[in-house]
Amino acid sequence: MYHGQLDPFPRNFLWGAASAAYQIEGGWDAEGKGPSIWDQFTKIPGKTFEGTNGDVAVDHYHRYKEDVALMAEMGLKAYRFSVAWSRILPEGAGEVNEAGLQFYENLIDELRAHQIEPVLTLYHWDIPQALQDKYNGWESRKAIDDFDHYARILFDRFKDKVKYWVSFNEQNVFTALGYRWQAHPPNVSDVKRMFEANHIINLANAKAIQSFRELVPNGQIGPSFGYGPMYSFDCAPDNVLAALNGEEFQNHWWLDVYVHGKYPKVTFKQLDRLGIAPTIEASDEVLLQAARPDFLGVNYYHGGTVRANEIECPIQENEQELEKDFQATDPYLMKPKDEQAQTPETSMFTSVSNPHLETTKWGWEIDPVGIRIALRRLQNRYDLPMMVTENGLGAYDELKADKTIDDDYRIQYLKDHVVELQKAITDGVELIGYCAWSFTDLLSWLNGYQKRYGFVYIDRDEKDEQELERIPKKSYYWYKEVIETNGSDL
Ligand code: NOJ
Repeated sequence: MYHGQLDPFPRNFLWGAASAAYQIEGGWDAEGKGPSIWDQFTKIPGKTFEGTNGDVAVDHYHRYKEDVALMAEMGLKAYRFSVAWSRILPEGAGEVNEAGLQFYENLIDELRAHQIEPVLTLYHWDIPQALQDKYNGWESRKAIDDFDHYARILFDRFKDKVKYWVSFNEQNVFTALGYRWQAHPPNVSDVKRMFEANHIINLANAKAIQSFRELVPNGQIGPSFGYGPMYSFDCAPDNVLAALNGEEFQNHWWLDVYVHGKYPKVTFKQLDRLGIAPTIEASDEVLLQAARPDFLGVNYYHGGTVRANEIECPIQENEQELEKDFQATDPYLMKPKDEQAQTPETSMFTSVSNPHLETTKWGWEIDPVGIRIALRRLQNRYDLPMMVTENGLGAYDELKADKTIDDDYRIQYLKDHVVELQKAITDGVELIGYCAWSFTDLLSWLNGYQKRYGFVYIDRDEKDEQELERIPKKSYYWYKEVIETNGSDL
């Protein structure tokens, strides 16, 4: 499409990298922290690869200064991290743990001292176990006020130090994996409960955004959504319709609520017919509609390709089978290995592999053009500025004898995506930043530490596990140059 010049990246473009508390911090019970649902779930035998957990993770809790020094050396402009709710409120509500707050304040101060813009995520999947035990976590409307209370503590404390805030990370993913596929806590497999919990989380998101307006008038807040554009397998009208179903079910179902405060009509009706639509109370819509975000966070890894499902069978018949298969496959794909399996979505479309795309060693499609398609679709439908809050390649990396890591495949992957970002900007997309996933290697929720995403290698193979030496990979130096040149020399 572009034969001439592409528009340059904006002058203040936030070249960043991202992480999440449970995946990097460790210190799972340090200085008064309470357990979260992840602390408990990873201890259930068979749930994670070789029983790996985040007890120590990459020990960022104790080494944040070393990590920030590496970020500064790289020239990073933004760093996205999440706060562990149970570090601030060990019981989920009630007494504040000052040591927990202080940890994040130290981290934020350290970032700011190096001119790195903090991007703070309020919720990256780790509700305090105490609230799970007390009232079933997100299945109770009590969680709305408790989340708001937690959010207000952070708004109040960091309002002058943090401009960009992410409310919920990948609500679409953690509700599906936690309430449907039993692959994440709270380890539930019940579609109706999933949709109810999801609605409550929407309300919690809206209420926290309202509090934000009151307490952080100059800040910007938005959710980070795990967005995958849906493609039709071909131009057969039935398949095109299936792709529309996919887009509505997998994406608009959440995004329309975030931005317009309303569930999409068609999807709602279909769920209602199946008896699994969420229960909406009279005042819910008012709350949802008063919480338009300032920007959309977009986590992009890949899209999905679908075709029409000929079998008209609505729901759940082989749910047990699905769970087994699902755990053997990659959770993020959100589809069972058995492509014929029936679920509410697959009654409206069936996921298939895209014959035009290669996959990573973990079976994830590699689709750089998809990020441009994603941003274009989102720009036109929601008309909000966007920040790519995650994008990256999970791979096995090799630490060579001379202590270097030649991750050219990661450089290629990131470069191809960044080029598409520039095209999207030239198209007219309003993009304020790009946070690659991830800064250091970290715990991949179910896959342990073997699947690596970072610019910085964490050496876990030393005899002493606690060593956890940080070694910049080749991609670290590549990204440093991208930042230095503001992406002008890709
Ligand atoms: C999205 C999630 O937000 C993050 O926590 C996860 O590690 C990456 N996807 C990669 O799977």
